[in-house]
Amino acid sequence: MINPTQLNESTRTLLDALIKKTPDTRIKQGVTHSMIKRPSEKFPEETRLEVCGKLLSSGSFGFVFNGRGAVHENNLTFYKKPADKKRIIKAIPLKKESESKEYNQYRSTQKQIIKEAYRTQQCDPDAHCKKPVFDDDFGYIIMRKAPGYDLMDFIIDMRKGKFTAPPAYLVTVMLNIMVEVAKIHKRGWIIRDLKPENIIINPDTLEIKIRDFATALPISKKTCKSIKGTYPFIPPETRYLSKISPAIDIYALGIIFFELFGYRKKIKESIINQLRSLNPIKDNPFLFMDDLSYSNQIYLIDLFKSFIHLNPADRISLDQAIPDVEDILQDILNNSTEELSSSAEELTESDDDELTQAFKSYSI
Ligand SMILES: Nc1ncnc2c1ncn2[C@@H]1O[C@H](COP(=O)(O)OP(=O)(O)O)[C@@H](O)[C@H]1O
Ligand SMILES: [Mg+2]
Repeated sequence: MINPTQLNESTRTLLDALIKKTPDTRIKQGVTHSMIKRPSEKFPEETRLEVCGKLLSSGSFGFVFNGRGAVHENNLTFYKKPADKKRIIKAIPLKKESESKEYNQYRSTQKQIIKEAYRTQQCDPDAHCKKPVFDDDFGYIIMRKAPGYDLMDFIIDMRKGKFTAPPAYLVTVMLNIMVEVAKIHKRGWIIRDLKPENIIINPDTLEIKIRDFATALPISKKTCKSIKGTYPFIPPETRYLSKISPAIDIYALGIIFFELFGYRKKIKESIINQLRSLNPIKDNPFLFMDDLSYSNQIYLIDLFKSFIHLNPADRISLDQAIPDVEDILQDILNNSTEELSSSAEELTESDDDELTQAFKSYSI
């Protein structure tokens, strides 16, 4: 077996022979790690072999692998990427004529995969998404790895009590998500599939990246042919009237924030009316709000509600919501010296530093 990450004189010769013998996009036999062949975008004459590592996730549409680095075919040398430039390889199964329709709905056509890569480039240039390559079974999309893990796992870990997040931490997360979504809207795109699984959070810096732009559409589109996204994050105007606008992402954000702050009930479509009529004076059914001042709790709950109005025109805009949340964050930070010192026994010095760093690194 050739280990492409540890090449030496003899395995280099073997790999050379193997590449010549296997013209396929994916080289999987005879190697310890699969490799995806693609043209270098900087030097189009040259070929890169993207080395796949562990499976990071198998979502509904694709398998996402960690990239180990790349072998340059011209000199057969393995290059490991620095931490901030690591890549992922998303392998998306291709639709086949012969298969049943039901099975087919989880597969994509070449055209859809090309669109997904294009939309990723447009929605977030920081993803450095490459042009996809194909073989008979899969399309491969290669892009930069967003550091951290997805917000779904973050929320689950918090619910399990694996960590506790002080109030400023969650409000910063909320703010950073809104800022990222606002950037994508300003670039002219509606995301359409915003949900915790598609939001990557770096728990050290609280930096946020939105991923999975497979179904994103330009803001100029006002209606959609088919409803894409995930319930309960799809708003009623899309579900019943096929209408789309940036307000559909605002709606999804509202549901995400209910989940982020630990709404006690599972959020299904059938309870969204209850969320709309939540009375913050009477009820505070959130697990992670206790450390916020009473007035900030009321303010936040009202804010969440303004994201999920039935009528999209009534939903709050990000230009309005972002400064409001900045004010809340400032208020929490101004009053947090006391709170931090009261829990000083639980925080080691380095935890404390890390948190301070995290709050400081928040910027828009
Ligand atoms: N660029 C990326 N950086 C880090 N993690 C990613 C990246 N792209 C995808 N992931 C992870 O893989 C999961 C599935 O990827 P996604 O593009 O959402 O595929 P699917 O279309 O199957 O939902 C995401 O939920 C996320 O956890
Ligand atoms: Mg996804």
